[in-house]
Amino acid sequence: MIKIAPSILAADPLNLEKDIKRAEKAGCDWIHVDIMDAHFVPNLAYSPDVVRCLKKVTSLPLDVHLMMDNPETMIDTFLDAGASCVTIHAEIQKDIPVLLDRIRRSGCMAGIALKPGSPLQMIIEYLNRTDLVLMMTVEPGFGGQKLDTSVIGKIRGLKDLGYQGEIEADGGIREDNLEILGKNGLTIAVMGTALFHDDHMSAAVKRLHKICV
Ligand code: DX5
Ligand code: ZN
Repeated sequence: MIKIAPSILAADPLNLEKDIKRAEKAGCDWIHVDIMDAHFVPNLAYSPDVVRCLKKVTSLPLDVHLMMDNPETMIDTFLDAGASCVTIHAEIQKDIPVLLDRIRRSGCMAGIALKPGSPLQMIIEYLNRTDLVLMMTVEPGFGGQKLDTSVIGKIRGLKDLGYQGEIEADGGIREDNLEILGKNGLTIAVMGTALFHDDHMSAAVKRLHKICV
């Protein structure tokens, strides 16, 4: 079964607790939290305090996606705040192995993310230091974009490499394109607009969990 991780970027910022509880009640598996520094991506979103507050209102794993050029300055703060998985981007000009080991040493899952245009080769040397690979299926920075189907080949490539960790995709995922992602190896689907803008989230999550079982 593909795990469903609603992205709070599409939740109601004035009623975040209500929307998180709605997602948990609907049977979602993880909660995806986008962190944006207005530098790595042209947008700004969320802080460690939001992660700390989420930890108080949900028992679902918090999947923290760091779209930051300097994650080393904030990783420990997100780990302390209660993240269950912390993902950094492979495109940052930093010592990636050191950062991944630091995340794992804290007992948290370590993830590496790739933008749509970045080749799979970029992360091969890091795979044995990760528990999760996040394939961006849209250019990072905003929700509500259309899924880039060219990324499906990279998901398949990672599966064919025999990667044992979670294979997550993020951006533009909907009920009508989840199956092809699942058939190519996806294990976790991040969904923002398609879930939080659905008044019948429980029924939607039930249908999504039936895809690719
Ligand atoms: C985009 C974020 C995604 C986004 C997904 O940079 O990383 O998590 O919120 O939203 P949808 O599902 O609406 O594309
Ligand atoms: Zn994300």
